[in-house]
Amino acid sequence: MAHTPDTTHTHGKRVSTPLEAQHPLDPLTAGEIATVRDVLVNAGLLKNRVRMTLMLPVDPPKATLKRWKPGKPFERRAFATLLDRDNQKHTEVIVSITKEKVVKKTVVPNTPERGQSPITMEEFVEINDLVKADPQWRAAMERRGHADLIDTAFCSPLAPGYFPEETEDEGRRYFRSLTYLIPKEGDSPWARPVEGLIVKVDMTEQRVFKVYDDPDAAPTHMEDGNYTLDVHGPARTSLKPIDIRMPEGPSFSVDGNEVQWENWKLHVGFNAREGLVLNNISWNDKGEDRPVLTRASVPEMVVPYGDVDETRYWVSYFDAGEYLLGRMANPLSLGCDCLGVIHYFDGFVNDDLGNPLKVDQVICMHEEDYGIQWKHTDLEGKPDTRRSRRLVISFFSTIGNYDYGFFWYFYLDGSIQFEAKATGVVFAGSGIPGTPNPHNTEMAPGLLAPIHQHIFSARLDVAVDGEDNTLHELEMVGIPRGPMNPRGNAFTWSDLQLKDEQNAQRLANGLAGRVWEVRSAHRKNYTGKPTAFWLIPEGKPVLLAQPDSTVYARANFATKHLWGTQYAENEIYPAGLYPSQSSGWQGLPTWTKANRSLDGEDIVLWHQFGPTHLPRTEDWPVMPVEYAGFWFKPHGFLDQNPTMDLPEDARSACAMQEDDCCKDGGCGCCSGRVCKCGNGGCACGKPKSAAKKK
Ligand code: NI
Repeated sequence: MAHTPDTTHTHGKRVSTPLEAQHPLDPLTAGEIATVRDVLVNAGLLKNRVRMTLMLPVDPPKATLKRWKPGKPFERRAFATLLDRDNQKHTEVIVSITKEKVVKKTVVPNTPERGQSPITMEEFVEINDLVKADPQWRAAMERRGHADLIDTAFCSPLAPGYFPEETEDEGRRYFRSLTYLIPKEGDSPWARPVEGLIVKVDMTEQRVFKVYDDPDAAPTHMEDGNYTLDVHGPARTSLKPIDIRMPEGPSFSVDGNEVQWENWKLHVGFNAREGLVLNNISWNDKGEDRPVLTRASVPEMVVPYGDVDETRYWVSYFDAGEYLLGRMANPLSLGCDCLGVIHYFDGFVNDDLGNPLKVDQVICMHEEDYGIQWKHTDLEGKPDTRRSRRLVISFFSTIGNYDYGFFWYFYLDGSIQFEAKATGVVFAGSGIPGTPNPHNTEMAPGLLAPIHQHIFSARLDVAVDGEDNTLHELEMVGIPRGPMNPRGNAFTWSDLQLKDEQNAQRLANGLAGRVWEVRSAHRKNYTGKPTAFWLIPEGKPVLLAQPDSTVYARANFATKHLWGTQYAENEIYPAGLYPSQSSGWQGLPTWTKANRSLDGEDIVLWHQFGPTHLPRTEDWPVMPVEYAGFWFKPHGFLDQNPTMDLPEDARSACAMQEDDCCKDGGCGCCSGRVCKCGNGGCACGKPKSAAKKK
């Protein structure tokens, strides 16, 4: 349930609302989005039924960025895709915001290779009305006994996939729609799926052009799937409060969109497609800022379904490229997503007409205690314990029934972790309770949940001590008995350099502990070895669709856990710029045909990961968060454990409880210290025996 944040609470809250870009990589501001719109209106490009389906900031070339110094002027540019809804004509423009003019205009051919630009908010709403106006759909609803629920039903706007054998689709911009019953206001819209009723809606002709109505479809699952406390309350009262306080404020500092926390420095970006983008991530090592990643984001994800049924065989949503993760991002001002002292960044996206839309507090940044960083108890029984902490930068996006969290974690020991959180309402159909089905589980009797995958693609423009890097695959290997292994106990590791793009398309291998190492081509560590980071995969299934399926071509990036490419401007979206209705092979499979060198070059890693979801009863009516992600960890980058100077006690999470240590017999002192009460206060101190020894 949404609640209004209490601004008087001690949980401090600060927000950056960019009025003017201070840095060339800053997100588009409201004023800049409005300028782009004005330029396009004045140029006669944004008029009548022309809609803006996409607007993205254009990063300056790397060489330009390198020369730029804070305070110096810089040019700002935006890319936009315009869709003429009368004739489906797509026009791409690059606008110089600084010079207030169109610097490039391209009319894009309307072909299956190119695909369709993302759904507009207008279409999102229209589909419901267009379906309801269709007599065949109405007849299908009446035949199912749902005549009285037509007005309140929800006809969903669903990306249709690509199936050239369905010749009626040819040349159309269209969506499929499945119907859900909502008997009373406030009911979960996803709980009562009407089975065997699929409608295709042409968005240019503004009409339904095909209705698939299965006369033998299962009756609609009619149990509600409501998830609020109105139904499930009263709320339990057994949980005692956890109060996270940082009385001296956060340890990070923020200047515009630049963030500094402990050794880490980075720049926070945001756009309508990817949502959160992190730039210029560096680690301060004894006063020197050493680069690690030039840019990190999740530019695409695909959710392919494993069902054969007419109602669902076509489902393969590209939630970034078809629906736009940034545009669908949650304003975190309304929820309780982050705890502690929080810094929020507001975000701006464009609406269909090109106007700026504010997403309040779209990115959340805070610190979290993360248990133990390191610990040792010496021979005399004296423990040394240091607490771990991480900086969390995150956002959440809601794409219809599902909700995705995108969480980047930065640790004190130099590690970076990415975690996707999948939650929300599982997409379901209706079936006959208890009927065996090899593609669906039953989340509740008669509520079918198709097996599906959520495959995320993280784009990591790596820069380990600079852009000149090499890429290696390391594995742990056993050794057959022989001269290399005389007693049979020995094992070692292998090191395979992935020198070009064709050789850098790899699968994970958990049994071999396979990791991918990015090395500096010039810098050595304390032991004389190249400085390096490891990309550590989870190694869950890649795309399970068959090689001759259309989804295999469209989501080809998802067939490998790793692709390595040589950096090139404009190579951001691994399934191409417009995956919707695309025939496929765009993005990574096309770019890597060039087989560019990765030997001492500017390398970009594309890492695919995510759960293959066999839904369970516990996923209903709302799914507990499912986690997926990867680690990017220093491996020979630093000369030793960088956390040796962490303090023993205060500054850490356990010290937060010290005010309360005398109450109720509780004590939160750590590192072997004991609670000493008196004079109305309390403190953590050394135990008497330990003090004597010294
Ligand atoms: Ni799922």
